[in-house]
Order: sequence, then structure tokens, then C-alpha cells
Amino acid sequence: MAGSLLVRGIGQLVTNLPQLGSGILGVMHDVDLVVEDGDVVWIGSTGTAQAADVVLDAAGRCVIPGFVDSHTHLVFAGDRAAEFAARMAGEPYAAGGIFATVAATRSATERALLQRASELAREAEAQGTTTLETKSGYGLTVLDESRSLEVAQEVVEEVTYLGAHVVAPEYRGREEDYVALVKGPMLDACAPRAKWCDVFCEEGAFSPDSAREILEAAKARGLGLRVHANQLSHGEGVRLAVELGAASADHCTHLDSDDVEALAGSETVATLLPGAEFSTRSAYPDARRLLDAGVAVAIATDCNPGTSYTTSMPFVMALAVREMHMTPDEALFAATAGGARALRRDDLGGLGPGKRGDLVVLNAPTAAHIAYRPGVDLVATVVRAGSIISPHSQ
Ligand code: NIG
Ligand code: FE
Repeated sequence: MAGSLLVRGIGQLVTNLPQLGSGILGVMHDVDLVVEDGDVVWIGSTGTAQAADVVLDAAGRCVIPGFVDSHTHLVFAGDRAAEFAARMAGEPYAAGGIFATVAATRSATERALLQRASELAREAEAQGTTTLETKSGYGLTVLDESRSLEVAQEVVEEVTYLGAHVVAPEYRGREEDYVALVKGPMLDACAPRAKWCDVFCEEGAFSPDSAREILEAAKARGLGLRVHANQLSHGEGVRLAVELGAASADHCTHLDSDDVEALAGSETVATLLPGAEFSTRSAYPDARRLLDAGVAVAIATDCNPGTSYTTSMPFVMALAVREMHMTPDEALFAATAGGARALRRDDLGGLGPGKRGDLVVLNAPTAAHIAYRPGVDLVATVVRAGSIISPHSQ
């Protein structure tokens, strides 16, 4: 935004920049922060800032960088509450549930898809998310994938082409033909609308060979890569992601030591999505093993109607702390700086001069309260690029 915003009286400021403060979160105390023309320009002791156009009083509370939710599927119609209920009664999860959403998405109008995706994005913002990635993947025809991406472009900053979510129902038993479509005419139609290409590399979705073909074709078109990898079983997805220089390998639930080693020496972030394990009642990824090996870790919601119908980054942070043994500091870092890195966005995920002015004023004295007070809405004010986006002004 043009103009300036002063956030004054910050009791604890999480910068994520160790050169500015203490610990991995770069924590500073009793400071004011100024955003000008969208970017942070100044941080200094409380009471020493110059006047600004808009003043937000943190009143001694904690301010953190806005959450970067680097993995969602917001463009869909219908819901699968019955499938969730059946799972909670003991049914296993299988990738095939996706077809119910594909049918609903194809028969929805673009306007209905846009309305739902926008509502979910607003819901995420109200919970502190200032950057969203979202994918196509419930259309699976040239037309339905490209209109899904059109909707995504309207709603989020980071858009991903996921024509390779599952083999489209009309191509059942003909994976090769569908792969040819996804890396041919569908990619032609979708590449101009997306920054990223993702493939669900899994038994029942796409084989490593098919995934490689699609990802290589997308890379040749200038798209960045992400992979749904090693979610439901151990496979070659993570190693493929690293080999092809993907920005992120997502899920990483079933890893062996070669996978961990490959990730540790790479530019590929391991994006963990504990909402999916929560909603499918399955074992969580071993975050400690990844962190201890030096792997860059992000956490994200995976918001989708099948396996993780939540837009709440505070919720997934609480899961990361309680169920994946991340410290509250590690979970916050992964939900902000980790997500920014998974999207290769140097301008996001931290609060220091030059970073975009994306921040959350918490109704809490420290950031540890996010996991310490699970299920409680602690988000007071959300700012993106220096403008207050939540609560909405009437
Ligand atoms: O990330 N893994 C594949 N895609 C989604 C699930 C999609 C669905 O079940 O609709 C996920 O968990
Ligand atoms: Fe996903």
C-alpha cells in the first residue's frame, strides 16, 4: 500500500532474523515497527518512531510475521464430510475419494468455485495467513484445470498446476494417455496461469516415471516444481523432487534415511502437512528426524475437502508441537519462514527492513501461546503489505 503504518508498543516481536534478535525467531522486545509503501522500513525502541499515516497499538502484545500457507487446494465444490465420518468410524483413506470432488467441481459454475475459494481465503486471513499457495487438481480436463487456475489467480498469490492429481476418470487404465495430455495440451493451456507444477506421486495416483515426465515438461516451460511425495507409502517422490530441484517435497510422511540425507543436502524444503494425518487418523511425519538432520522444514494446512479441511495455521502449528515434537519456536518458524522458503519468496516470512509488511498482532504476550492455547482464536489484527486485512473495516 502507499503510505505508512506504525505498529507501536510491541512487547515481543518475532523477526525470524537472528541478526536482529535472540534465538531462531530473532526475538526483540519493546519495539515499534514502521511499514512504508508495503515494506518494513524501520524497527526501534518503543516511543522513538516518527509519525505515520496509520497507527496500530500492539499494547505490549506479541507480533509475528504473517503465516505463509504454502500448500492448499482451495478450488473445489462439494464436501466429503460423510467420507470423514466413515474414516473416523474405521474406514481407511484412499486417493480415490478425490473423484467425488472432481465430479462436483466439474459441474460447478466458475462463479461458485470463485466464491468458495474466496471464502476459504478470507477464513485463512482471519487466522493470520498473509500468503496462500493454491492448486488446481479437481478438474482434470484441459478446460476444468485451466478455469480452476483462473479462479486460483483471482484468490491467491502463488498458483500451482496440479493436472496430475489423479488419472482422470475417463482415462482409467490409460495412465500413459492421461500423462500425455497433462504434459501436452493441458500444460499448454495451464502454464500461462501458474507459477508452479505439482504431481501426486503415489500408488493409485502417478508412478515415479510418469511424475518425472510431467515435471520435466513443466520445468522446460519455466514452471517451478513441487511434489506430493511419500504421503501414503514409501516411494521415489522425495528423491525425484530433490533430483529435479523442486522447491518443496510435500507430506514426507514415509521416509528412509536416503530420503532424509537427500533432503538435507538440497534446496528442497520438506513441507509437512499434519492436518492430513489428523483427518485420516494416520501416523505423523517424523519432524524431529528432519530437523535434526538439518533439513529445511515448512508446515502448511493442505486445506482440501478430503484429507484436511482446515485453513488454520495455528491449528497445524499446535499439531506440529504436540504430535510431531517440534518446539513452539520451530513450529512458528516453519509456518512463516519455512513456507516462504518453500515458495522461494525472500520477501516474505520475516520482519526486518526490506521484507514485506505482513504481520499478525496476537492477543497473547508470546508466540508460544499459539500451541499452548490450542483452539483459541488469538489473532487480533492481520496486516498484509502494510494494510489491515482482518478484521475487515465496515
Ligand atoms: O494433499 N494427496 C493428494 N491430495 C490431497 C488429498 C486430496 C483429496 O483427498 O481430495 C492431499 O492430501
Ligand atoms: Fe495436498
